[in-house]
Amino acid sequence: MMQRLNIGLIGSGFMGRCHVHALRNAAPTFDLPLAPSLELLADVDAATAAKAAKALGFRRSTGDWRELVVDPAVDLVEITTPNVLHKPIALAAIAAGKPVYCEKPLAPSAADAKEMADAAEAAGVKTQVGFNYLKNPLVVLAREIVASGEIGEVIRFRGIHDEDYMSDPLTPWSWRLDPAGGHGAVADIGSHITSIARHVVGPIEAVCGQVRTIIPRRPAAPGSRETRPVEVDDQAQAIVRFANGADGTIEASWVAAGRKLTLTFEVTGTKGTVFLDFERMNELQLFTRDQPRGRTGFKTILTGPEHPFYASICPAAGHHIGFNDMKTIEVRGLIVGLAGGPPPSPDFREAWEIQRVVDAIVRSSREGRWVKISEI
Ligand SMILES: NC(=O)c1ccc[n+]([C@@H]2O[C@H](COP(=O)([O-])OP(=O)(O)OC[C@H]3O[C@@H](n4cnc5c(N)ncnc54)[C@H](O)[C@@H]3O)[C@@H](O)[C@H]2O)c1
Repeated sequence: MMQRLNIGLIGSGFMGRCHVHALRNAAPTFDLPLAPSLELLADVDAATAAKAAKALGFRRSTGDWRELVVDPAVDLVEITTPNVLHKPIALAAIAAGKPVYCEKPLAPSAADAKEMADAAEAAGVKTQVGFNYLKNPLVVLAREIVASGEIGEVIRFRGIHDEDYMSDPLTPWSWRLDPAGGHGAVADIGSHITSIARHVVGPIEAVCGQVRTIIPRRPAAPGSRETRPVEVDDQAQAIVRFANGADGTIEASWVAAGRKLTLTFEVTGTKGTVFLDFERMNELQLFTRDQPRGRTGFKTILTGPEHPFYASICPAAGHHIGFNDMKTIEVRGLIVGLAGGPPPSPDFREAWEIQRVVDAIVRSSREGRWVKISEI
């Protein structure tokens, strides 16, 4: 019988549930070397954890994550809690010698993220961070197109991650606004577009950023007339310079009215351009200059079985994969890596690199100058 991989999951909100869908789907979708098994779930208190464990199909539950990380039956610790808890939980799991699958952003600051990456490497513990958009087969294809030279030398990257889940001023204060958990939109979703910029184009060398808080106070709790100040950014813009000489821009906003998943990027090269918008995440736009006069234009490449891991989810091209499928692909890479295959990615070290860019954008805005990533 296949060896079991006993999962310990901390947090059962949006991402906790998404992880469970992915764990359940990964086994029948891919030929996995280990069988994920839902062992122990932790949440804020025993009652919340017990209810979630029953709903999601975990064998046991606990109201204390400290119990979970040292539980001898847990083989893998998954962290889907608010950001402020990522570091203490991950360090405790690493100290217990367990691999960690943590949601993004990895930590409140680059310094924290570095401490986590150093600890994992010193302990020889494997890690993965939930930058799931990198698993879109068309992001992998865009990276391949850029790396192959098909669009020539990269001269510019334009990347945006806009959503509107905080655009209503009556949306109450929540953990996403807690400065102890790190920055605002620039970290929450700016980290995603930064992960894509690094993945598709390469390392970023310097940034010139501007971040702003648009809604200065929010209801302290749902429906409350009392308000609390907002101390983190709602929107961010940066000009970025890549190590390979390309220029670029990165934008992130969680108050972009009407935008649901405007996670878009365009890479312009000397011979062509690739463009992807995650609201149409199965359609990569590619333009190359080698077309007959009067017939030039972008073509649309639909996701299909030729693109990494799509075939396991669906054998027919153009039938579309979705958000949860990217998480399933992410889980596949993690489990293959834990069983001795290629290391899971992105790991804590890469998440630290992403966090350095996020921190540099905020520092640049505060200090009104270009900031080199090497300063962070
Ligand atoms: N990869 C993505 O696309 C993506 C999308 C959304 C959120 N996230 C990340 O996932 C994480 C969680 O976000 P979410 O949207 O699921 O939040 P959420 O508020 O929906 O869920 C958080 C969960 O953590 C639990 N929790 C809080 N304090 C706890 C404690 N002390 N001990 C144990 N459990 C505790 C909450 O009860 C809840 O179950 C964040 O880091 C966020 O940035 C990633």
